[in-house]
Amino acid sequence: MNNSYHDLVHQTFDFPQEGLAVKDNNLIFNGLDIKKLIDKYGTPFKLTYLPKIGQQVAKAKKMFNDAIKKHRYEGSYYYCYCTKSSHFSFIVEETLKHGVHLETSFAYDIELIKQLYRRRKITKDVRIVCNGFKTRQYTKNISQLINAGFKNVIPVLDNKAEFDDYKKSIRAKDPVNIGIRIATNEEPTFDFYTSRLGINNREILEFYVDQIKGNTKFNLKMLHFFMNKGIKDDIYYWSELNKVLNLYCQLKKICPELDSLNIGGGFPIKHSLAFNYDYNYMINEIVSNIKSVCKKNKVAVPDIYTEFGSYTVGESGAVIYGVLDEKQQNDREIWYMIDSSFITTLPDTWGIGEKFLMLPINGWDREYQEVHLGGLTCDSHDFYTSEEHINAVFLPKNIKSEGPLYIGFFHTGAYQDQLAGYGGIKHCMIPSPKHVVVEYDKNGELEDWLYAKEQTAQSMLKLLGYIR
Ligand SMILES: Cc1ncc(COP(=O)(O)O)c(C=O)c1O
Repeated sequence: MNNSYHDLVHQTFDFPQEGLAVKDNNLIFNGLDIKKLIDKYGTPFKLTYLPKIGQQVAKAKKMFNDAIKKHRYEGSYYYCYCTKSSHFSFIVEETLKHGVHLETSFAYDIELIKQLYRRRKITKDVRIVCNGFKTRQYTKNISQLINAGFKNVIPVLDNKAEFDDYKKSIRAKDPVNIGIRIATNEEPTFDFYTSRLGINNREILEFYVDQIKGNTKFNLKMLHFFMNKGIKDDIYYWSELNKVLNLYCQLKKICPELDSLNIGGGFPIKHSLAFNYDYNYMINEIVSNIKSVCKKNKVAVPDIYTEFGSYTVGESGAVIYGVLDEKQQNDREIWYMIDSSFITTLPDTWGIGEKFLMLPINGWDREYQEVHLGGLTCDSHDFYTSEEHINAVFLPKNIKSEGPLYIGFFHTGAYQDQLAGYGGIKHCMIPSPKHVVVEYDKNGELEDWLYAKEQTAQSMLKLLGYIR
C-alpha cells in the first residue's frame, strides 16, 4: 500500500527530521515514544521536553560566537531569555543552567527575579534587561532591584517620562546603565505602521542630549529594537536594522558609554515539516552588517544582545490530544473531535491563526483522509483546519475500525499557557490539561514526571465564587 499516512509524509517532505521519527508506526519526538506516555498518563496532556532548551541556547550561542570570530567582530554576544514566553520555574531555571541572562516585561517579573535570587538560581551579577511600557509599580520594582545591589539591571526606556521615575527612585552609588527602545516601523501588510513600543527614532538623539548626557547617575548603554514580525531575511528587517545602526553610530560619537545593541527576539521555529530557515546565514548577515556600518562610521562595534522567547522554549513543548469521535457533517467535511479545546490550550491558533507542527502519534500505516479538527467548546471558532504549508489537514483514517487515534501539536512551548491563563477559568470550563515534564536524571536517563494534574472542577468553582 502506498497511500498510508507515512507515504504521504515521505512523498511531501524530507523525513525523518531532527527530533522527529517513526518507529512501529508511532511517532518518536526527541527520542520519546509518545504513545508510551499516553499509555501512562492518558490524554490530553501538555509535554515539556526540557533538554531541548539547552540545545537551543547552545546552538544560538555557538552560531553567534562563530560569526563573531569569522568576521573578527570586536564585541561579545549575550543571550537573554525573555521570561514572558514561559514563566514556569522549571523552564526559567533550565534556561539559567545554560548561562542565559534574563529579560522582563512587567512588574511581577521582578518578583520572579527576587524569588530566583532567594532560591540561589541567579546572583546579583546576572544581566536583566527590563522592557515594556512601565507602570509605576514596575519602575519601583526595577529601582528596588538596583538599590539592592543587582549590578547589571538595564531598564530600557519605553518612553521619555519613564526616566523621571528612575531619577527619583534609584539610589545606587555607581552610575546606572539604561537603554532606549527604538520604535520600529512594521511592513505595510501589518495592522499599524509604527510600533506603540519604544521612542520614535527621530527624537532619541535630542532626548539623549537634553536628558541623559551630563547626568552623572546614568549611562546610556544600550539601544534596543524588536520587529514584531521577527528576524526575517526581507527588506523591512534589513532596512530597520540599518536605521538602528545609523542611530547607534551617531549616538556613539557623543556617548562613549553606549556599547550594546539589543536586537530583541523573533527567531522563527519549526511550525511545519517544510520549515527551512537558515539561522547561520541570518546571524552572519546581522554580525557583518553591524560591523560594516560601524566601520564606515569609524565607531567601535556594540556587544550584541538577543532576547529569544519562542526560539528558547517553543520547540520544547507539545500538546497531545486523543480523537474522541469522527463526525461526517456533509459529503466533504469530516470532523475529528479532540478531547480538549484549541481555544483554551493553543490560543494562538484561534487568536492569530498560528499554525503548529501537527502529526499523528500512532496509525502511520493507515490510509489518510482530509479532516477538520474540532475542539470541545461550543465556540464555532474552536477548530484547526489548515497547516502552515497547505490549506488542509490530513490524518490517518478509520478511527472506528482500526482503533483510537492520538495527535500531537509540537513546538507549542512558548506563550500558550500564558495566553490561555494556566489553571484559570476557561471557555466552557474546559480544564487545563495535565502537564508532563521530561528531563535527564542524574544517571543521564530520560525520566518523566507529572508537573500538574488536570485542573479540577473544584478549582474553577473556587475561582468563580461557588466554593469559599
Ligand atoms: C521586547 C521583546 N523581546 C523579545 C520578545 C520575544 O520574541 P520571540 O518570542 O519572538 O523570540 C518579545 C516578544 O513579544 C518582545 O516584545
